[in-house]
Amino acid sequence: MRIPSELTVVGPAALRGRVRVPGDKGISHRALLFAALARGRSRVVGLAGGDDVARTRLVLRELGVDITAAGSAITVEGNGVDALLEPSRVLDCGNSGTTIRTLAGLLAGRPFFSVLSGDASLVRRPMGRIVEPLRAMGAHVDGRGDGTLAPLGVRGGSLHGRTHHLAVASAQVKTALVLAGLQAGGTTSITEPAPTRDHTERMLGALGAPVTVDGTTVHVTAGAPAPLDLHVPGDPSSAAFWVVGAAITPGSDVVIEGMCCNPTRIAFVNVLRRMGATIEVRITGDELGEPVGDVHVVSSPLHATTISGDEIPLVQDELPVLAVAAAFADGVTEITDAAELRVKESDRIATVEAMLTRLGIGVESSADGLVIRGGAPRAARLASHGDHRLAMAGAIAANAVAGESTIEGWNAIAVSYPEFGDDFASITGRV
Ligand code: S3P
Repeated sequence: MRIPSELTVVGPAALRGRVRVPGDKGISHRALLFAALARGRSRVVGLAGGDDVARTRLVLRELGVDITAAGSAITVEGNGVDALLEPSRVLDCGNSGTTIRTLAGLLAGRPFFSVLSGDASLVRRPMGRIVEPLRAMGAHVDGRGDGTLAPLGVRGGSLHGRTHHLAVASAQVKTALVLAGLQAGGTTSITEPAPTRDHTERMLGALGAPVTVDGTTVHVTAGAPAPLDLHVPGDPSSAAFWVVGAAITPGSDVVIEGMCCNPTRIAFVNVLRRMGATIEVRITGDELGEPVGDVHVVSSPLHATTISGDEIPLVQDELPVLAVAAAFADGVTEITDAAELRVKESDRIATVEAMLTRLGIGVESSADGLVIRGGAPRAARLASHGDHRLAMAGAIAANAVAGESTIEGWNAIAVSYPEFGDDFASITGRV
């Protein structure tokens, strides 16, 4: 799919109708990884189509995993973790933090050498958070900056279980250590400082792998999941753009169908409801322990809120578009305890501040957050800074204001939602 490098939006345009977003990115990465660990054939329908998940797929193929696609279904012939082969090339994880961190955990248990790297953004993101605990389990992992940055070299081998108390609330780190723990002797226990998305625990539990949860601690012993048959539910982080778009653009009425409604992923709905949004969630099914449902949003005036503490890890991917909601809300919204935003695909405190400033909104940043003075945003020239979520948050803001706006670096959306432009056109009646 060819995505233009710039998007022009003439607003305002109400959002109306029904939309299905691409399969959840986090669940898609995990489905591929777990299928590779299983012994037998797995089938996954509706895998996320963006570049990030494609990286996990390509890296697994470099490791000798047989993955074929037919229409919207992917088949993985899993032969267990022992069948993974030493790669002959650098494993290129592109822009994908989930790929590099989870693969490092998987490869930490393999008795061979591999190198993981990625694009200009990925090689700036912190890796010490996985390197240190994997070293503590007996793996030889190193990287630039004394193991704090990619490229990472992994010489895996015999791992021993350990108790980890994580300093950062990160589902990627938790998943990396679970993948190492499935290959380690003894028990690996991982305690998070605050709850994060729990797809790994839910999916592995549903697939019979030896993973149990006790509050914010996950316990893992050696073992493997069974092959899976999964229809990937829609990605709530992608749906959040339509939910905010419908909430802030008068006259909107949208239903998002078949969305993953895992409570660790839909905290942004609680934030928006607190701001006065009208949102209904109706659960319709379940996929490997993940609740699936439809979400109905109609536009309504919003007011400011505070987003902080343990809520932050549960909404961090949605914070750029929640900041857009705050820009249209009455009053001053404060986001604090969100220093992790500085080490995402872009420094999202700086890039969100730049976006809102261009939209004419009063905003101040601090080391760990933003203060946003809601008002009347105006049309502007915005930039993605190479960050997919910034690009889409910008399009949602541009759509709600009068006049012509432009988003530079629009092609960044390929990472998670290449179909965004088509869905945007149909949901706003521009086609
Ligand atoms: C993800 C975890 C989060 C999230 C990222 C996907 C995952 O990252 O921001 O988009 O799939 O586990 P962190 O683990 O760095 O918080």
